[in-house]
Amino acid sequence: MYIRSGERHRVTLTLNGSERSAYAESRTQLCDFLRHRLGVTGTHVGCEHGVCGACTVMIDGRATRSCLMLAVQAEGHRVETVESLDKEGELGDLQRAFRDHHALQCGFCTAGILMSCHEFLSRVHDPNEAQVRDMLSGHLCRCTGYTGIVQAVLAVARTRQNNREEEQ
Ligand code: FES
Ligand code: FES
Repeated sequence: MYIRSGERHRVTLTLNGSERSAYAESRTQLCDFLRHRLGVTGTHVGCEHGVCGACTVMIDGRATRSCLMLAVQAEGHRVETVESLDKEGELGDLQRAFRDHHALQCGFCTAGILMSCHEFLSRVHDPNEAQVRDMLSGHLCRCTGYTGIVQAVLAVARTRQNNREEEQ
């Protein structure tokens, strides 16, 4: 599809399980589309060039920088943001672990880090500290430091693993 700059396009995608649709200019980044057109403001925007990780969302189950993707490229795809981690209005286990392990202060980086951790734990069920730190290397946190974040991720992995074993 050839897209001219300045044109507006209707973009329809599945956002956190619901079909959503709005107009976007050709140049509109996905992060801005989510925040300003669809009103889902949990996703933060920092560097806008793929370095800090603050804007990370899931696209079809893969952690993706939403500042490096145009809204029109998300047409027809499944997008999950940090808002999807709540369970019926309650914090999900990963969010609770961040709170309990003091894994955030200002919270600017947190939405993106949570989404990368969410994807990571869906793939790696029994991670070690080095694997968690490697995953986090794609994110910049300027105020908390990473120790609490690592502890939170390892704690969630352990709890989920215990739950899986009890169910067997
Ligand atoms: Fe997207 Fe920094 S805002 S990586
Ligand atoms: Fe402040 Fe990470 S909690 S930048």
